[in-house]
Amino acid sequence: MANVAEPTGAGRPLLQVERLAAGYGKIRALHGIGLTVHEARIVCVLGANGAGKTTLMRVLSGLLPVMDGTVQFDGQAIANVPAETLVRRGIVHVPQGRMVFAQLSVRENLMLGGYTRPAGEVRDHITHVLDYFPRLKERIGSRAGTLSGGEQQMLAIARGLLARPRLLMLDEPSMGVAPILKDAIFSTLRDIRDRERLTLLVVEQDADIALDISDEGYVIETGRVVMQASAAELAGNEDVRRAYLGG
Ligand SMILES: Nc1ncnc2c1ncn2[C@@H]1O[C@H](COP(=O)(O)OP(=O)(O)OP(=O)(O)O)[C@@H](O)[C@H]1O
Ligand SMILES: [Mg+2]
Repeated sequence: MANVAEPTGAGRPLLQVERLAAGYGKIRALHGIGLTVHEARIVCVLGANGAGKTTLMRVLSGLLPVMDGTVQFDGQAIANVPAETLVRRGIVHVPQGRMVFAQLSVRENLMLGGYTRPAGEVRDHITHVLDYFPRLKERIGSRAGTLSGGEQQMLAIARGLLARPRLLMLDEPSMGVAPILKDAIFSTLRDIRDRERLTLLVVEQDADIALDISDEGYVIETGRVVMQASAAELAGNEDVRRAYLGG
């Protein structure tokens, strides 16, 4: 397994967003967002309720139209490319609220994550992905609806990995997850980045845990980027501490 050094300075930009505007009908939720995610980095987007975090993820994964601005993935324009095409190109979105299929088993949910690929290949890949999530391995035959919130989040992430992402976007992976599993999930995300050179864009309200694993972060308020810095700088910033880290 390649030993990946902590990426510094001049990594290759995988995702480049400029002046991005989007919303719902006449309601604008994003007003000119600019954001860059370099390969093999973990970037978090912090923001309060309604700031536009989920809207941003939906636009980037092709579920909502781009109203203005540009989005480039690996150097190619992808604004308004259909979601299905973006998944095949490697942009995979783990939605807020997890959206696992409650009536299906853990294994069946995982098989669905690899639906674009031959079943045999997906089975081998499931074995590999489950090494990151021993708890899921134990519950492979259980119905997803019987899992705890944290286990369902692990399942949603594992299912996302089965689509072979180059960019994995996670919308509030800590939501509804017990503290001890939160830590496990976030350290696993970091482990996956280190081992697989996966690029991660993580949207979170729990700034503490997100900054802990991130290289860089953005703070958005009412659809605008109000701060952008290294995770260490944001974690030490007074305004960020007051607004998102409970003083
Ligand atoms: N389906 C929708 N129709 C109309 N407006 C919407 C819709 N979804 C979100 N909005 C509005 O867009 C803005 C951004 O919402 P969004 O869900 O992106 O915020 P968020 O940062 O993800 O919030 P949360 O932390 O609560 O998940 C809010 O003002 C919200 O009310
Ligand atoms: Mg949201």
